[in-house]
Amino acid sequence: MKSFASAVLAAAALAGFTAHAQDAVTYDAATKVFRIDGGQVTYAFGVNDLDELQPVYWGAKLVTGDPLPAAHTNEGHASFDLPTSTTPQEFAGWGAGLYLEPALKITFPDGNRDLVLHYVSHTIEGSTLTVRLKDIEREVFVDVRYAMDPATGVLGRSAVIENKTTTPLVIEQAAAATWTLPQGTNYTLDTMTGRWAGEDALHTEPLHQGERVLESRRGSTGHQNDPWFAIERAHTNDQDAGDVWFGALAWSGSWRITIEQDLLNQVRVTGGYNPFDFGYKLAPGESLATPVFYGGYTHDGIGGASRLLHRFELTQILPQRPHPKPRPVIYNSWEATEFNVSEAAQEALAEKAASIGVERFVVDDGWFGQRKTDHAGLGDWYVNKDKFPNGLKPLIDKVHALGMDFGLWVEPEMVNPDSDLYRKHPDWVLNFTGRPRTEGRNQLVLNLARPDVRAYVFGFLDKLLTGNDIAFLKWDYNRNWSEPGWPAVAADEQKQVYVKYTENLYGILKELREKHPNVEIESCSGGGGRVDLGILRYTDEVWPSDNTDPYDRLLIQDGFTYAYTPGVMMAWVTDSPGWMNRRTTTVEYRFLSSMQGGLGVGANLNHWGPEDFATAKHLIAEYKQVRETVQHGDLYRLVSPQTNGEQSGSEQSVTESVSPDKSQAAVFAFLHSSTQGYPYPLLYLRGLDPHAQYRLHWMTGKPGGQLPEVASGQYWMSAGLALNLIGDFQATAFRLDKVQ
Ligand code: DGJ
Repeated sequence: MKSFASAVLAAAALAGFTAHAQDAVTYDAATKVFRIDGGQVTYAFGVNDLDELQPVYWGAKLVTGDPLPAAHTNEGHASFDLPTSTTPQEFAGWGAGLYLEPALKITFPDGNRDLVLHYVSHTIEGSTLTVRLKDIEREVFVDVRYAMDPATGVLGRSAVIENKTTTPLVIEQAAAATWTLPQGTNYTLDTMTGRWAGEDALHTEPLHQGERVLESRRGSTGHQNDPWFAIERAHTNDQDAGDVWFGALAWSGSWRITIEQDLLNQVRVTGGYNPFDFGYKLAPGESLATPVFYGGYTHDGIGGASRLLHRFELTQILPQRPHPKPRPVIYNSWEATEFNVSEAAQEALAEKAASIGVERFVVDDGWFGQRKTDHAGLGDWYVNKDKFPNGLKPLIDKVHALGMDFGLWVEPEMVNPDSDLYRKHPDWVLNFTGRPRTEGRNQLVLNLARPDVRAYVFGFLDKLLTGNDIAFLKWDYNRNWSEPGWPAVAADEQKQVYVKYTENLYGILKELREKHPNVEIESCSGGGGRVDLGILRYTDEVWPSDNTDPYDRLLIQDGFTYAYTPGVMMAWVTDSPGWMNRRTTTVEYRFLSSMQGGLGVGANLNHWGPEDFATAKHLIAEYKQVRETVQHGDLYRLVSPQTNGEQSGSEQSVTESVSPDKSQAAVFAFLHSSTQGYPYPLLYLRGLDPHAQYRLHWMTGKPGGQLPEVASGQYWMSAGLALNLIGDFQATAFRLDKVQ
C-alpha cells in the first residue's frame, strides 16, 4: 500500500495543470511515439524494438504533424559498450549491461539485482501521461508520469515504484527521471554551489565526457549545491539568447543530480533521492512515489530559462498559486536584539518599524523556553515568562494597533540537549544506539520520521497558531544531520528515514496550512540551506542567506534568481558597518540592494537618526510602487555581478524587472568601485513594448543620470542609457511607467 504522504504528495505535484489544447499529450500507435506539447516546447519519446522507453525529442515546439522518428535501440560500441548503455532511456533499471546512472536499482531477497523495465501500457488523463513499465520477469511495476505546464512548457516527471511480488525488496537507488539532450559536444553546464553565508555562486563550465555530480548527503537540501542545473548549447555572453535546457528537483531531503556525457556524446541528467546510504525496503503491496524533477527548454538563453522557472514557480508551485500575494514589507528583530527579546523592547522596535511603512513585524529567536543563548531551550515551545510576562498577546495587540501583522520564529525540527523535551525524550533524535550524538550549534535533529515526533511538532505549532493571532512563521533549521539512525524500527527499515522524514515535514506543513489558511511560512535554514521546489510548495518565501551585507547580497541574489523567483527572495536592510565584512554603506545603498525581491528591515532602529528614518520611509513607499513588478515580473540581468563563482564580484550589477503586461519596469543599478575614471557602462533595457511611451521616475532622492522624462520602449532599449554612478558602493534606481 502506498503511504498516505507519498500518495498525496505525488498527486499534488503532478495534478492540476489545465490543458489549453485537447491534444497536449498524443500517442501515435503506428510509430509508438508519445508527444507532449506546452508553451514553446515539445517533448517526445517512444517505445523501441526492445519495448524500452526511449527519448526522441526535447526542444522548441514542433509543428503539428512534424515527423518524429520511431524509437530504435542504438548499436553498441564494440563489445565493451552494449546497446543497454548506448541507447538513452527515459527510466532505466540497473540490469543487463547498463554502465550509466540507472533510474532504479533494486536488490531482491534472493540476491538477484537485475532489473530490466519494459513498456506495458499507458493512460492519458487530461495533461498527465502515465506509462506503466514492468520488469521482464518479476512483478515490479513502475509508473512513470509526465505533466507539462501548458503555459511555460515546464515538464514535471516522477515515478511510482510498486512491489507486486510476494517478498520485500530493497530500492537502492531511485530517480524521478532521466532527461536526455540532443547529442552534441558544444554544451556548457551551469550549476550553483555555496556554503553558509555564501550561497548561490554560479559556475559555468564546458561539458565533456564523464559524470558530474551535484548532491546533498546532509538530510536536507543543503547550502552546498542547488538541486538545479542548466545546460546551454553554444554558450554566448548574451543572457537572453540561445538554446538552454534546465531542471530543478523538488525534494528537500538528501538528493543527487548526475550529468553524464557518454561515449557517443549523448547527454543525460538523472535526479532523485541520493543513493548514498539509501535503502528503502518495500514490502509486498507497497509503493514508493519519487519526488518530481521539473525540466524545461527555451531558445531565450539562461535569462529566458530563469524567467520560465519564475513564472512556473509563481503559477504552479507556490502555495498561493496561481496568484501569490506579494510579500509584505517586514521588520525582523534578529540582528537588532538576537536572543535578548522582551515585550518592551520589541514594542519599541515595532513603533519605529510602523513609522516607516513596515507591514509585518517578526519576532525572531529567543521568545520561548529557557532560550537565552543557543545553548538551551529548543524543543520547549512555551512563551518565556521572564521576557513576555503576559504571553505574546500584548505585543501582538500592539503590533496590530500599529497597523502591522505579526510573525514569529520557530525551529520545530531541533532540540537542545539542555531542554525539557530532550530530558523527557532522548530517544526522539536521530541517533545510532550507543554511539555519540554529534551536536551542531548545541542542538540535535529530532527524527521527524517517527510518528510521535511528527505528532508533537504538529501539535505545538497548531496550538501556537490557534492560541495567538499569528500571520507568519519563520521556519528555521540550523544544522544538517549526523548519525542518521532510527533505532525504534527494524534494522532493515531504518534507512527509510531519508524519505519519511521529508515526507512528514511536507505533511506537517500541508496540514498546518489547511488548518490555518491565512498563515504564511518562510523556509529558512541558517539562510538558504533549504530552498528547492519541494519546500516551495508549502512555503511562501525563503531566507536566501544569513549574509545581509548589501554588496555580497547582490551576488547571492543574482545566483538565487537563476533557479528561484524574486517573488520568494527576502532581503533585509541591516546595520552598517555590517557584521559580515565590516563594510560601510549608505542606508540608500542597503535599501536598493534589498528592494530587488521581498523587502525587509533588520537594522537596530534604536540607532537610526531622523535622516535614516526619512530615507527609509521614502524608499519603502517607492518600493510599494514597484514590488509587484519586482516580485512577479520578468527579470533581466542587464549586468551580472557574478564572476563565475569566484568569491569576488564584478564592478557593476544591474537588474531590470518588467511587469507581465509590460506596463512598468523597475531598474536597480550598483557600482562597487570606480577605477581610472571610467564611466558606468551604458544600459540597454529589455522586454519593453517598443511602441509604447514610458515615463521615467527616479526612486532615489536625486537623478542617477541624464535620462529623458518620456520616451518609447524602443528608445529605452536602444539608446544606451548613461548613469552617473561614480565612487565606491554607489547605487541608483528608477522605474518606467507606460503612458496610457
Ligand atoms: C538562523 C537564521 O537564518 C537567522 O536569520 C536567525 O533566525 C537565527 N537562525 C536565529 O537563531
